[in-house]
Amino acid sequence: MFICNFLYIKKVSIQLKVFYYRSVDTPSVTTAIVLGTRPELIKMAPVLFALEEIGEEVILIHSGQHYDDALSESFIRDLGMRKPDHYLQVGSGTQAAQTADCMYKLEKVLEEKRPDSVLVQGDTNTVLAGALTAVKMGIKVGHVEAGLRSNDRRMPEEYNRRIADHISHYLFAPTPDSASILKDEKVWGDIHMTGNTVIDACERYVKLAEEKSQVAKKIPFEDYILVTAHRAENVDDQAVLTGLVDVLDKAPLPIVYPLHPRTKKMLGQFGLYDKLAGSENVHLIPPAGYFDFLAMMKRCSFIFSDSGGIQEEATSPSIRKRVLVFRKSTERPEAIDAGYATMIGTDAGDIAQAIANEVSAGQAPSVPSPYGDGNAGKNIARIVAEART
Ligand code: UD1
Ligand code: UDP
Repeated sequence: MFICNFLYIKKVSIQLKVFYYRSVDTPSVTTAIVLGTRPELIKMAPVLFALEEIGEEVILIHSGQHYDDALSESFIRDLGMRKPDHYLQVGSGTQAAQTADCMYKLEKVLEEKRPDSVLVQGDTNTVLAGALTAVKMGIKVGHVEAGLRSNDRRMPEEYNRRIADHISHYLFAPTPDSASILKDEKVWGDIHMTGNTVIDACERYVKLAEEKSQVAKKIPFEDYILVTAHRAENVDDQAVLTGLVDVLDKAPLPIVYPLHPRTKKMLGQFGLYDKLAGSENVHLIPPAGYFDFLAMMKRCSFIFSDSGGIQEEATSPSIRKRVLVFRKSTERPEAIDAGYATMIGTDAGDIAQAIANEVSAGQAPSVPSPYGDGNAGKNIARIVAEART
């Protein structure tokens, strides 16, 4: 009798303890989304919405890698996302300083919140910091947009994505090719082929963007090439940037160019800004908001870009535009294979020739996007929720 009572009291006390730890020490947050740059906001929004739709609790952590309104808050507004729960205010810095600061600050938040898993997207320094901090704390990591490889050692992003892939528990590969890269590399985590969330975003926002955006009124050309270039291995290279400015100044179609702050800084450092800004052929604008950018992608003749996300967006059923990829390597060969993109290198003569060819002959294909059907966010949310039960 005494033993029975003792065991009963012991059991109740253990249950109370478990309840106490759950309710006080372990908040009921289940998934933390860590992001920090313009493309991560765009590509994580569909995952956030899908997780919340199925009742998952999510904590949103913004590293502050991008901090200008035009690269951060403006996207939160256009995408209709809720404000992040935490801003780490990491800001700009060297590769190591930015990554290390993000890890240091993130650890404090994760220590307090103890989520079941951390989701990161893509290949930025925020992604590396998010994935590495989480695994070092014993928290499971899901990598959205896993399995992309440029095999280009010049790119900081290539190291970030390789490391993130090899330490993640869940790998959300956007295409069959990226899934098979992960299989061939024998990653530890579970591989899921989900599609790319950027297509979800295009399908959700392009129509709205066309209704809401006023950008067309500010563009003095009917037909134009939409240009973006911000990649470090391009714009930090004086010869490449000088060649680009020269080609854009003389291009056979007018240029609309929303300027990334990194590029603006490097144009200034190399003494090229005045030439580009003063060119009659080039309409320079600040980094465009998401709706304005979608509206311009839809409206332009074709795109010239070194962006990763834009290569994918151009294949979405609601956009379907050709992209000249101003790079020597790409981790998005699917867009090329589908006929949407052509990699043209960075040599001034080659890019001038490619633009001339595109003006006279280019035509966007109408084949389905290789990056999925717009349900990637839902697929990822379902897998995250199932993995926990
Ligand atoms: C980063 C990512 C890149 C991604 C891009 C998206 C890495 C290594 N690179 O490149 O993969 O394609 O974001 O746009 O993570 N700056 C501002 N305001 C800001 C942010 C940056 O003026 O809000 C300027 C600063 O001078 C800074 C420079 O831009 O030094 C570069 O910013 P950084 O975040 O280091 O890299 P990105 O070139 O933006
Ligand atoms: N984008 C934008 N405004 C701009 C340039 C790009 O809204 O002025 C969007 C674009 O639609 C795409 C994303 O930003 O979804 C791509 O970001 P970026 O090229 O900076 O990064 P990457 O994809 O190369 O990592």
